[in-house]
Amino acid sequence: MTFVVTENCIKCKYTDCVAVCPVDAFCEGPNFLAIDPVICIDCELCVPECPADAIIQDIELSEDQHHYLALNEELCEHWPPITALKAAPDDADSWNGVQDKLTLLER
Ligand code: SF4
Ligand code: F3S
Repeated sequence: MTFVVTENCIKCKYTDCVAVCPVDAFCEGPNFLAIDPVICIDCELCVPECPADAIIQDIELSEDQHHYLALNEELCEHWPPITALKAAPDDADSWNGVQDKLTLLER
């Protein structure tokens, strides 16, 4: 099992999740983070840290979120790891909760 970063992270990218991950499982793209399922140890520590409630366990993903499991794995094959908190985008709060952000994902 693994935890998965889902849609509401897009353009929010608060990175609070990174600060608590004991195994540095997160990778970073321009406006989204993903979790490498090979590295994640299912500790759940990141879940309550995310202000966007974007991190979900794979078995808890809804049908319309399920594609994020493969997407997280694919993105972490290309994106570099991120191991420390950094400032969120200035407009992060205005994107928190906005629907249908997948088309805005930058690779
Ligand atoms: Fe890291 Fe634990 Fe979150 Fe997996 S569940 S990404 S190991 S903090
Ligand atoms: Fe994204 Fe939440 Fe982490 S918005 S960067 S999953 S704290």
